[in-house]
Amino acid sequence: MIAILTPAATEFVTPLTFQALTGNPVVRELWGDQAPRFQVPAAAAKKLRGRVEHVDVAEALDLLVIAPATADLMARLVHGSAPDALTAVALACRAPIVVCPAMDLEMWRKASTQSNVRSLRARGARIVGPESGALASGLAGPGRLAAIEAIGAAVIEAAASRASMAGVRVLVGAGRTEEPLDPVRMLTNRSSGRMGYAVAEAARDRGASVTLVSGPADLDPPHGVELVAVRRAAEMERAMTLEAARSDVIVMAAAVADYRPARVSARKIKRTSDRAVLELEPNADILAGLGAARRKGQVLVGFALETNDGIRHARTKLRVKRLDFVVLNAPEASLGRETNRVTLVDASRAEALAEMTKREVAERVLDRVIAIRGMKR
Ligand code: CTP
Repeated sequence: MIAILTPAATEFVTPLTFQALTGNPVVRELWGDQAPRFQVPAAAAKKLRGRVEHVDVAEALDLLVIAPATADLMARLVHGSAPDALTAVALACRAPIVVCPAMDLEMWRKASTQSNVRSLRARGARIVGPESGALASGLAGPGRLAAIEAIGAAVIEAAASRASMAGVRVLVGAGRTEEPLDPVRMLTNRSSGRMGYAVAEAARDRGASVTLVSGPADLDPPHGVELVAVRRAAEMERAMTLEAARSDVIVMAAAVADYRPARVSARKIKRTSDRAVLELEPNADILAGLGAARRKGQVLVGFALETNDGIRHARTKLRVKRLDFVVLNAPEASLGRETNRVTLVDASRAEALAEMTKREVAERVLDRVIAIRGMKR
């Protein structure tokens, strides 16, 4: 265990206290050079190569817990600002982060703080607390550091989740498709790709090896994930079918065009004063194809967006496409938004989840996937 103290932390506690508790020198400076002296497990020690301390420490970590986290510290985490050792380690680190906010109630309630908390959550950080009660300022309200038991539980959960998909090959279909009409026009939809990308990132953070077959999306490709970029539904079908053969888990979150123009004009279509009719022909149902070719033990998850009779329609998809479960979106709470409200529908249950970030939905989807894999063994 290594303690990192910010300059503000040393106003409250002395480094010596943490040195005695952890048995390690305390990291305080951005350009410190104590890494070779840390006593850590052998696997982590290999990563402490005595180069740049904050990078060495970041690489050696299994988990980074920030407690207490001030409003200012969360703002720095969100913007990737790293003026001190703690924020530099946070920026350089790939391990999961548990953030335990503590501050005065007005600081906690400020729109800026709330938006920073949402951003951290959306990127996969676990936020624990704050609790309500008496505050250091003499006021009372939300802002107290979470109880040590709650922080401990989050740490255990984050550590368990980290390896929960080690060695599992996950294939995610995401983004929208684009069906050209002529060199400048196309048929497409408003899907942002966020939900599928969140699943890919969450699976990566659980130790899975992830392939993301993605149509156009409004997002940067996640690092540590193999990206196969496609455009048309037919290209997506080819890529998904090829990858499916070696995947243990398939999550199909792409918004695939059900139809494509029957003819694609090589030249830009000119305006005339005539009525124009667009003839469309159907695209293949990619997910149904994957369901039909499904290997033994493979877990297959589909998405659905329904405006009426959602659960009944989702169950039909479940059966026809031979899925393990369907993530049913509430249309007004999903398209183009950061958050989502979904119901996880299988043959026997429909579990309605509260509104949460797409990353949190992704975690719940993967929890369900892991439970199903356990039952199939
Ligand atoms: N899907 C697919 N290939 C298609 C269309 C959809 O793989 N050509 C997948 C989507 O990625 C999603 C699920 O199938 O996982 C959605 O099923 P779909 O039957 O298309 O549902 P909707 O389009 O929501 O509804 P509708 O029944 O109205 O088509």
